[in-house]
Amino acid sequence: MTTLRFLTAGESHGKALTVIIEGMVAGLPLSEDDIARDLQRRQGGYGRGGRMKIEQDRAEILSGVRHGFTIGSPIALLIANRDWQNWQQEMSVLPVDNIEPVTKLRPGHADLAGVIKYGLNDVRPILERASARETAARVAFGAVSRRFLAEFGLAIHSHTVAIGGRQAKRGEAIDWDKVEASPIRCADAEAERAMMEAIDQAKESGDSLGGIFEVIATGVPVGLGSHVHWDRRLNGCIAQAMMSINAVKGVEIGAGFTLAGIRGSQAHDLIEPGKSGRQFRRGSNRAGGIEGGMSNGQPIVVRAAVKPIPTLAKPLPSVDLRTGQEAPAHIERSDICVVPAAGVIGEAMLALVLSQAFLEKFGGDNLEETRRNYKAFLESLRHHE
Ligand SMILES: Cc1cc2nc3c(=O)[nH]c(=O)nc-3n(C[C@H](O)[C@H](O)[C@H](O)COP(=O)(O)O)c2cc1C
Repeated sequence: MTTLRFLTAGESHGKALTVIIEGMVAGLPLSEDDIARDLQRRQGGYGRGGRMKIEQDRAEILSGVRHGFTIGSPIALLIANRDWQNWQQEMSVLPVDNIEPVTKLRPGHADLAGVIKYGLNDVRPILERASARETAARVAFGAVSRRFLAEFGLAIHSHTVAIGGRQAKRGEAIDWDKVEASPIRCADAEAERAMMEAIDQAKESGDSLGGIFEVIATGVPVGLGSHVHWDRRLNGCIAQAMMSINAVKGVEIGAGFTLAGIRGSQAHDLIEPGKSGRQFRRGSNRAGGIEGGMSNGQPIVVRAAVKPIPTLAKPLPSVDLRTGQEAPAHIERSDICVVPAAGVIGEAMLALVLSQAFLEKFGGDNLEETRRNYKAFLESLRHHE
């Protein structure tokens, strides 16, 4: 059981988002700039709505870092919500009169289940926390995890594989610079154009679009996770982390669902002799880097299906909670397609699971201690008789 964990707090139009990270090693170099880059990447992507033009996310480090290095104590981060200026009455901590409740339920959102579960006559308290604004806090945490993993040569990237049924071609190697430069986070120029057109069409008709993103972790050592218990299986932990992202409805590791339709002789990645000792070669990676709940030294490849977001400019027919009568769903300023942003959030969630598993295996309260343990493990693979 790892001790690395994080908690977030904050409403979409509240004053700020906060994150507390506990269990990160001491001695890790960390700056606000390390976090800023990922926050910016989450805000981008063709198809985002007006909110992202208002916010320019930056995490302020409140604690846990001294003179540029983590000190082992909880790291607290604060991300201000600029839009709060416009919502001070609606989101006031003190009682305020004459606030119009949100009562027209949006199909596909947390509205209906939330008001019933929490006994409310207003959807606002539900939608404020169900909003994916919270994922900015996750991305801030993910940037800290990514910084830790980078010390050991692990890197995590994401790209858009499909939007509204428009698929990117599968190249041999993915050009990550092209992905980062693409407004849709897709290196295939033809697919990029088709996806952007699809978003434009959806926007024109007041609709929304979903798609698929892929997250890839490289430099992952053998042996993260375990086969011995359901909750220690790395693929299970990754699937849970990905499914926790708003609007994600499916997760696949490696060839995933394709494996279900092919023969065993075609499905598995052959094991070939490697350089020496306990090092082996694999000619393919249909397993997506995980066998028996453990990383096998290959890149970890995860895909997630994102549904079209529920708030539509041309609202779906629904019901008004106040009257119980039919009414069009509530309209809140909204994105049209969030697949590129969801990929960046997927990176953060994979960074969380991998840094937890890494610390579980190699331990250490400070970076040097973890490094020594990791080096000793790598040495043992080279010299094993
Ligand atoms: C980055 C991102 C941005 C999102 N923006 C919106 C939005 O503007 N409007 C909306 O209705 N849903 C948006 N969603 C999706 C909702 O947050 C999500 O559908 C809702 O919380 C219900 O949860 P579920 O889809 O996981 O069941 C967004 C999701 C992500 C990942």
